[in-house]
Amino acid sequence: MPTDLSPIDKAKFVAAKKATDYVKTGMKVGLGTGSTAAWLVQCLGEMVRDEGLRIQGVPTSTRTAQLARDVGIEVISLDEAKWLDLTIDGADEYDGNLNLIKGGGGALLQEKIVATASDQMIVIADISKQVETLGAFPLPVEVIPFGWKTTQTLIEETLIGLDVLGQTTSLRMNGDAPFVTDEGNHILDLHLNRIGNARQLSLVMNQIPGVVENGLFIDICDTVIIGYGDGKVEVRDINNGAIEETKFDFFETGNLFADSTD
Ligand code: 5RP
Repeated sequence: MPTDLSPIDKAKFVAAKKATDYVKTGMKVGLGTGSTAAWLVQCLGEMVRDEGLRIQGVPTSTRTAQLARDVGIEVISLDEAKWLDLTIDGADEYDGNLNLIKGGGGALLQEKIVATASDQMIVIADISKQVETLGAFPLPVEVIPFGWKTTQTLIEETLIGLDVLGQTTSLRMNGDAPFVTDEGNHILDLHLNRIGNARQLSLVMNQIPGVVENGLFIDICDTVIIGYGDGKVEVRDINNGAIEETKFDFFETGNLFADSTD
């Protein structure tokens, strides 16, 4: 475990560490994708190896599946699991209603399916992901490769009539080639700046032929665990607001942190 982390990595790490409190032996757990979720998977792997935790993990990407196997977590498919106790994932933005933008890592489709098939979804994030109104982060929309330019035009025309500040879109690239998702699709990033009505936008986007799914997660997240660079962690619950604060102290040797308050 590295001991010399930047404040942002400390923030991600403590959020991930705090989320492990919610994971109990016997659970089927959805494992998110991204740098914050990767910390979670590593922490869970440590608990499997050192503390006898027994869980089955359903990864939301090939990347996460590989990491989970590497750290010793039993990996099963969503079809094998059928339903999950809990999903823990990162986010690109979350607002006061715990609605999210996800898909910065290109895994939004599996992430949304897995989170929706869970009794509870916990988002782990550093405080920079918190926004008043969603939309500064470009909204990822997964589209099938066939006719993607036509789909892009339809999306741009549709955006004109919606409560958003920007209407430009761009095809996500991976070097010189279009980015390809785990499902073999492309991603259009929508530069909206401000999303006035996220629920409406999400419904309308998914009506457009060629759109597979969009990165708005509405009424899916129950709890957000927010990490800060000084080791503070805050837990917010959709029903109860701020419910808990914890401070982790970082040490230069041995374990990276210790939970000093609860
Ligand atoms: C991947 C995602 C990630 O959860 C999101 O991009 C946040 O990533 P990170 O934890 O690296 O900031 O939605 O599709």
